[in-house]
Amino acid sequence: MEPGASAGRRYLLKTFGCQMNEHDSERIAGLLEADGMEPATDLDDADVVVLNTCCIRENADNRLYGTLGHLKSAKDARPGLEIVVGGCLAQKDRDLIRRRAPHVDVVLGTHNVHRAADLLAEARATGPITEILEASAIEDHEAFPSALPVRREQGHSAWVTIQIGCDNACAFCIVPTVRGPEMSRPFEHLVDEVARLAANGVVEVTLLGQNVNSYGRDLALARRRAGDGRIRVRPMFAELLRAVAAVEGIRRVRYTSPHPKDLSAEVVDAMATTPAVCEHLHLPLQSGSDRVLAAMHRGYTAARYLDRLATARSAIADLAVTTDIIVGFPGETDDDFERTLEVAAEAGYDSAYTFVYSPRAGTEVAERTDRFVAAEVVAERFERLRTVVERSALTRHRGRIGGVEEVVVEGPSRRDPLVTTGRTRQNKLVHFAPPAPLRPGTFAEVEVTGAGAHHLRGELVTVTATPLRRARIPVTAG
Ligand code: SAH
Ligand code: SF4
Ligand code: F3S
Repeated sequence: MEPGASAGRRYLLKTFGCQMNEHDSERIAGLLEADGMEPATDLDDADVVVLNTCCIRENADNRLYGTLGHLKSAKDARPGLEIVVGGCLAQKDRDLIRRRAPHVDVVLGTHNVHRAADLLAEARATGPITEILEASAIEDHEAFPSALPVRREQGHSAWVTIQIGCDNACAFCIVPTVRGPEMSRPFEHLVDEVARLAANGVVEVTLLGQNVNSYGRDLALARRRAGDGRIRVRPMFAELLRAVAAVEGIRRVRYTSPHPKDLSAEVVDAMATTPAVCEHLHLPLQSGSDRVLAAMHRGYTAARYLDRLATARSAIADLAVTTDIIVGFPGETDDDFERTLEVAAEAGYDSAYTFVYSPRAGTEVAERTDRFVAAEVVAERFERLRTVVERSALTRHRGRIGGVEEVVVEGPSRRDPLVTTGRTRQNKLVHFAPPAPLRPGTFAEVEVTGAGAHHLRGELVTVTATPLRRARIPVTAG
């Protein structure tokens, strides 16, 4: 395809899923812009609408088909409007999307994000296309989302996908089906990418993967199979954290998500001894009941989870801990749920994503309707868990009042443009009102003066660094 084949056309991109999905969206936007397109402000202004979908829970499906229904009327009124559906739900539903919504022009999956602009051009020339690849079709590391052009929302902060897919088989989860087996991106490519980002003004990177602790195991295995007998087959995530943090200009390194069963002493040590790695651990618990954890195939018990958390807390000063918990897993009893409340209270989370179990066709427990927990029981448990989590969040946040924290500015607060929102190293949002606007990416010291369950309030003490303008040519030191 000739570059610029879509020159002047405008695209509207909607993201439904997790950070990995958002990162794919950045790449799709980057590819469309490389092809000459510009972002649209709203639907009326758009020539192309791209929906990047998620299927982790059922309401994600409903939202997509609702949006497609709405777009049908827009397309009836303006037949030139093109509709692209990508992401995890597209990977899962494939032809079903066009059967339910024949007005869709392109359906693409999670393994061919790099084809977004090409497929759009092909559809324009020859008619609607569905292209879903199996994971095994990826032979080329260029297919990693981080290896494609990008349009980032924040200049100072970037996501870097270090691994795609997941080799675990949690009984509730659709991700392995739609994202395929684990594949790590080569170590040197990642370090080079972070160096390039830093040269363009990025100071903070978030490494993304479904189970980042196992990063690199597949690469070592491949080298061993190719005849390099000296290679030990083991994860390289700790080394990666250190290498990325050592890149000139990188001041903050985050990552998500580690799996509790694989949280190694090496990773905890790398966090503890590498100053750029932020003091934040997102450690998904899912349930506090050993019986439920076993049925989920999580590979740890509650005691083991708490033990690993205690080790991490004693090694890393002022560590913030967040988690994911599912309420109402099939067969969850009152007693199982009490264990979850106990473990959540003992863990003392800074925040938690709590989810109502949602059956996903094709996963192990989705057909066990006989074991489903009644909706009103789940709703009551959900509220009780929320109360426990909010209590610990508030306690931990109040404990920060009076301290001075390093904050990176994200921009004006959504509610009040005179208030600035920034993020602390512990990944907390802080709202404060500087005397003059501060650009995103500014480093400041902020005294914490107030706390809620989901944010902190503060007062500016001093600005410590202003953001680099984004340079196209890397600036070398000295
Ligand atoms: N790989 C990550 C999780 C990715 S999915 C990990 O293992 O930590 C993000 C979260 O969605 C999961 O941690 C889980 O809490 C939730 N989730 C996944 N499948 C779900 C389902 N069927 N119903 C409800 N919540 C689910
Ligand atoms: Fe899903 Fe489990 Fe893999 Fe996480 S580790 S993506 S919850 S299967
Ligand atoms: Fe993410 Fe949803 Fe896919 S959570 S990996 S976008 S199913």
